[in-house]
Amino acid sequence: MTRSFEKVGVVGLGTMGAGIAEVFARAGLGVTGVEADPAALERGRGHLEGSTGRALAKGRLTEAERAEILGRVTFTTSLEDLADADLVIEAIPEVMDFKRALFTDLDRICKPSAVLATNTSSLSVTEIAATTARPGQVVGMHFFNPAPVMKLVEVIHTVTTEDGLAEEVAALARRLGKTPVSVGDRAGFVVNRLLLTYLNHAAVLLENGLAARDDIDAAMKLGVGLPMGPFTLLDLIGLDTSYEVLCVLFQESRDRRHAPAPILRELVTAGLLGRKTGGGFHREEEPGGPPPTAKPSVGSVAVLGEGAEELAAKLADAGFKTASAEAADVVVALSRNPVIELAAGLPRPERLVGLHLVGDRIAEVASTALTSSEAARAVEGLVRIVGRTPVRCKDRAEFVVDALLYPYLNDAVRMYDSGYAAIEDIDSAMKLGCGYPSGPFEMLDELGLETVRDGLRALYAEYREPSFAPAPLLDQLVTAGVRSIRDLP
Ligand SMILES: NC(=O)c1ccc[n+]([C@@H]2O[C@H](COP(=O)([O-])OP(=O)(O)OC[C@H]3O[C@@H](n4cnc5c(N)ncnc54)[C@H](O)[C@@H]3O)[C@@H](O)[C@H]2O)c1
Repeated sequence: MTRSFEKVGVVGLGTMGAGIAEVFARAGLGVTGVEADPAALERGRGHLEGSTGRALAKGRLTEAERAEILGRVTFTTSLEDLADADLVIEAIPEVMDFKRALFTDLDRICKPSAVLATNTSSLSVTEIAATTARPGQVVGMHFFNPAPVMKLVEVIHTVTTEDGLAEEVAALARRLGKTPVSVGDRAGFVVNRLLLTYLNHAAVLLENGLAARDDIDAAMKLGVGLPMGPFTLLDLIGLDTSYEVLCVLFQESRDRRHAPAPILRELVTAGLLGRKTGGGFHREEEPGGPPPTAKPSVGSVAVLGEGAEELAAKLADAGFKTASAEAADVVVALSRNPVIELAAGLPRPERLVGLHLVGDRIAEVASTALTSSEAARAVEGLVRIVGRTPVRCKDRAEFVVDALLYPYLNDAVRMYDSGYAAIEDIDSAMKLGCGYPSGPFEMLDELGLETVRDGLRALYAEYREPSFAPAPLLDQLVTAGVRSIRDLP
């Protein structure tokens, strides 16, 4: 039987529900929006009117189209009004007890053929389905924020979902103008499982003092080309939501990389939840200033390592005197890895600073335990002179960018290898769900499998974190000389 979805219900018209109602109404479906009480219902109506009003102001909708969209939505506080809906999607808060209670009611109220969907970000769809007498007709339909804009919908089926239903819901998502990715029921699904693990890792590195908040943000934004750095994104998602999702991930995986960084718990307890409370990792009142631009006063510079000649020539062009390591005031070691061994062999190790050029916009400036603050500051200045943003960090394996990026890529390989999702689905989920410029497998191809494998080995040797060990599949591909994971038969 092919279902027809013409009348839909949306329960909870908050951040997500109002957007989801708009998406359905824009596609021509009749929508019944349900809220908990009259005040929340008015807020929900306001969200919809505001969002379509902005589209009108920007010329993306005509007055008539807007009226038509709003005319398709009925607002109510009574769940009983969902009796004849073909599909109901729930977008109430991320609390299992609330969702279970709601699905018990929906199962009683909705017609037997109706499909019940949850927009949960991380909770078990299987557990939600089990509260109903129709677990075969319960799926996850995970939209991204803001729902009218973001193209991705993760469609989640459970072991009890009827055959063919996930495909029908995916077809509905396409009708809404979205790109569906169908996956099974694992905590965090594709996007949040990969994304929150990376964000949490950034918080752990911050706590460990590897680098400061703005340096890590700049590293990932300018060095990798992500839309924003991890702390800006955590503040946008909400630290409470991020904490909850990580708890659910940890509960399922028992992987300590999913255990929320203590700083998240501290900020959440302090009520610093991110943008919605005016403060999280970033506080609104913080004074920001332009970076110093003064030319550093450095007598002479020595540049060592791969690419030294090119950098030395740029510095000479900028008017700096270059010299040998023994004679120079500052020694710059171009390296991807800790430089302390090199420093230990120098007569004046306090002058040695590690430098790793990433892409063409940033340079990681690594201070060893012996580096003087004068030398580090001088090298930051030199980095600005050659047109890059310095990312200050400690002298640890893979510094900042690769330390964050490689484990994320490794997680994507493990996810694929576990059979959970296909390469193309993981790539498009990360691009469409997070706005990333490329998916993890595209990034792997660009960086080279061997480079990433070797980087992971270095990270594992440094931090002894089990999940930093290269995924066996990655190791095997490198050993077999396969250049792209897509080349697998
Ligand atoms: N915020 C995001 O970025 C995001 C993204 C994807 C998925 N989600 C998921 O979407 C769901 C909703 O999140 P949100 O951010 O929109 O939350 P929200 O707090 O903005 O909105 C929830 C709404 O549900 C209403 N509500 C609560 N109980 C209700 C009930 N029993 N009946 C009817 N309405 C009820 C509340 O009044 C509120 O308006 C969660 O499961 C969340 O994990 C959120």
